Amino acid sequence: MTQLNIEPLHDNFGARVTGVALSGDLSDSEVALIREAIDSYEFLCFPEQDMNDEKQLAFTGLLGEPEAEHVTFGKTGEIKYFGTVGNVQDDGSSLGNANTSTRYQTGNQLWHSDSSFREVPSFVSILHAYEVPGEGGATEFASMRAAYAALPDDLRRTVEPLHVLHDYVFSRSQVAPVDPNHAASLPPAMHRLVRANPANGRKNTYSGSHARSIPGWSGVDSRRLLDDLLERTTRTGEIHTHQWRAGDTVIWDNRCLLHRGTGYDADRWRRRMRQTRVVGSEKGIVPSPTGH
Ligand code: OGA
Ligand code: MN
Repeated sequence: MTQLNIEPLHDNFGARVTGVALSGDLSDSEVALIREAIDSYEFLCFPEQDMNDEKQLAFTGLLGEPEAEHVTFGKTGEIKYFGTVGNVQDDGSSLGNANTSTRYQTGNQLWHSDSSFREVPSFVSILHAYEVPGEGGATEFASMRAAYAALPDDLRRTVEPLHVLHDYVFSRSQVAPVDPNHAASLPPAMHRLVRANPANGRKNTYSGSHARSIPGWSGVDSRRLLDDLLERTTRTGEIHTHQWRAGDTVIWDNRCLLHRGTGYDADRWRRRMRQTRVVGSEKGIVPSPTGH
């Protein structure tokens, strides 16, 4: 019998969880506790996990339906459930800063919510670290729930009824061209700008670098609002910086958290992490009719 131990990291969000092996036989009550912790804390780090791909996919399946990795699917139609984050290839070699794949991944240094550009965005991402750089390579997290809670009343009233288009090609083109087949597989998706967690009703804005425009608004007004929301969400001092250690398994709630990589020198360091995602349960969760 394991004893799940949850230590909050900050006032607003984040927790470190020990006393559980994610790759072990988890009981239904342990899975339920992890789900509740996701709803409450948004970000969970499980240090010192004994992980491999098979175990990670099994654990991912306990939280819901694994999401097909969109880059491979878009380019070739092949369904695979893992994305490799970092510069280490399957054959063990590592790619430097000038490599196209390394450059493409610098798109992750823009604040974003994984798969917010999909018709049904993702629920959580699960990222396990195998090799981490000696310097750099942290991942930062910012809570759109805390941001919503801190909105002035008039702005909250403005954003409440709005929708927002999320567009991967729009955001990723800022750092590198997107393969045409990949682009064709990801038309912009429309979501509510304010979402609520279905378990606890807590609301959040839903912005980030994939957020392109507010339908019906001018480009300039859309940009001003989305930039303002992003700035409010990511103000320094309100972000959590995760300094990776090999063996960390991190789960984050894409419904309400933004994240970004801080970058590292790929000519000098190796970084190898494996990511799975769980499909969200609803298309753009709508606020409750009471407005709470
Ligand atoms: C991701 C991501 C940032 C990083 O894995 O989804 O955005 O630090 N990672 O590599
Ligand atoms: Mn990401």
